[in-house]
Amino acid sequence: MTNRLWDWLKHQFTYQNSSTDQRACFWQTDLHSHLIPGIDDGVKVLEESMQCIRQLADWGIQKVITTPHVSHERYPNDSATILQGLKTLKQQVELEQLPVVIDVAAEYMLDDFFLQRLEAGPLLAFGPERYLLVETGWLARPLFLDEIIFRIQTAGYVPVLAHPERYPYYMHDPEGLAKLRDQGCLMQLNWMSLTGRYGAHTRTQAKLILKNNWVDFIGSDLHRPEDLPALQALFSSSFYDSLKAQPLRNKGL
Ligand SMILES: [Fe+2]
Repeated sequence: MTNRLWDWLKHQFTYQNSSTDQRACFWQTDLHSHLIPGIDDGVKVLEESMQCIRQLADWGIQKVITTPHVSHERYPNDSATILQGLKTLKQQVELEQLPVVIDVAAEYMLDDFFLQRLEAGPLLAFGPERYLLVETGWLARPLFLDEIIFRIQTAGYVPVLAHPERYPYYMHDPEGLAKLRDQGCLMQLNWMSLTGRYGAHTRTQAKLILKNNWVDFIGSDLHRPEDLPALQALFSSSFYDSLKAQPLRNKGL
């Protein structure tokens, strides 16, 4: 093979790969990640944040709304801490001239102190509808979940449940998930759930959520650069095309 032919083939291969990646995230906005260094179980240092953000931008993400954990016991982050982190990230993104907008919200744990937090407000929501990303503990459904959802709504937010496919207590309760969605609680699927990162049970549940067309938002829930290969696996998986049929609201946030 001549050098010229080799160069041409190399160029074609590189071009095809990069063009596939650049349009891979057709949903354009990622709204669930842990990319403010050192304030939760996500990235520890700024360089790790930037590795994640550079890769998301390469995959076609134009806006990253990063969402640190907020809970009473483990992650008592307040809005000021999170907004300070945003400033740091924005400065670095600007310095590197990355084609991506950075914003913040939070992933609020529905613990015993959540309603006090809601009352004290305002909470860090995102989008014109004031979407509020919430999660629950793994062991059991919060006792007064219906009431909490209602209170979030009456406070002027639209509740969005983070990774509904990951809660063991919903694994055998598809009716419970259906009811939640009927109540107006939207759903955010983790895209790593479809690539098997959290195991077979979670993937089965993610398939059920896809089958019902309940994916209102797709999110990376990116915690560290080591998660990136598991995210990339989606683009060549059989689930990728079925995401296009979901009622995604990611764009335009
Ligand atoms: Fe998360």
